[in-house]
Amino acid sequence: MKTFGTEGPVSPEKNYIVSRTAELTDFIDRIKQGKYLVIFAPCQTGKTTFFQLALDMLVAEDPTYFPIELNFEAYVDVDPVDFYRSLVEDIREGIVHNFQKRGSTPTKALMSFLDAAEITNHLLMLRFFQHLASLLGNQKFVVIIDEFDGIPTTAVRGFLHSLRRIYLTRSAPQCPHSVGIVGVKSIAQLDYDRSVSPFNIHDEFALPNFTLEQVHELLGQYTDEVGQVFAPEVIESLHKQTGGQPFLVNRCARILTAELEIPKIDPIVMEHFSSAHARFLREQNRNIQHLLTNIRRDRCFERILMEIASYDKESATREISDHRKCERRVLRGI
Ligand SMILES: Nc1ncnc2c1ncn2[C@@H]1O[C@H](COP(=O)(O)OP(=O)(O)OP(=O)(O)O)[C@@H](O)[C@H]1O
Ligand SMILES: [Mg+2]
Repeated sequence: MKTFGTEGPVSPEKNYIVSRTAELTDFIDRIKQGKYLVIFAPCQTGKTTFFQLALDMLVAEDPTYFPIELNFEAYVDVDPVDFYRSLVEDIREGIVHNFQKRGSTPTKALMSFLDAAEITNHLLMLRFFQHLASLLGNQKFVVIIDEFDGIPTTAVRGFLHSLRRIYLTRSAPQCPHSVGIVGVKSIAQLDYDRSVSPFNIHDEFALPNFTLEQVHELLGQYTDEVGQVFAPEVIESLHKQTGGQPFLVNRCARILTAELEIPKIDPIVMEHFSSAHARFLREQNRNIQHLLTNIRRDRCFERILMEIASYDKESATREISDHRKCERRVLRGI
């Protein structure tokens, strides 16, 4: 039986899943066009799940795409030379892993190049990609970098400038053909000196919260498998109370279906939802902790959050604009 996943990325084999078909098609099209993309969205909104699904679909559609997945989380505070040394190792592992997944092996020339490659700065990274392109033949190299925010601050500038150079040079074949940068901080927030980002070639890709229809899609998979139905008002409340935030939707669904011990023959009704909601508000979670950190840093968040909690449509625009001002103050550290 599948579950509502709440620990990291979810997969269609093990979890109920929102297909996000329209967004996936759009994302894959942009990769095919050779775009350098940024997926910038808050914690636990499904970024990793999304690009993993996208890469699987991309390769299934056209095996000449050769995607690898990198993760910069562990690089925070590492010095640039060690960062680049480790990066080349990660790329090597990603390439070997991809060949294994396809049941094939890299050529000897490619393996010798990867074994001997040493990158210690962004200029050597440029040369590395140029050489790699000639060894990959007709395969289009795609790199997705998860947790990009972990890049050492002293390396971010050179790294982004190099990608920009590759993109703007438009040499054929472009290597990487497409790049996806995934993180919770936008490129502007990471920018070393708040001047114009060197990566102004990027294409921002929005990953919205789940719509009511998508919450229906998700809960419907459980009902199809188990037979237990949700009262329509439960589905609406679940969507409304979570704002469609992917993790929160799954956490509430999990409490309702696996923790409240509601007999599977009974429908899930509003009384159950109220108990789930109360339990959910009492528990620790990363999103609430993140809000608390922001409140401690700047008390104006508290007022804005209280207003959002008593949300009404008329004040929505003012709240959002206040929120942006507040966020800018926090980013500037005042
Ligand atoms: N397509 C989806 N269908 C159903 N639930 C999803 C989907 N994508 C994400 N989720 C929910 O969101 C949670 C977080 O997903 P994921 O780890 O992909 O997000 P993330 O944005 O990469 O998180 P983080 O900021 O921690 O890296 C999952 O555990 C699951 O509850
Ligand atoms: Mg993630």
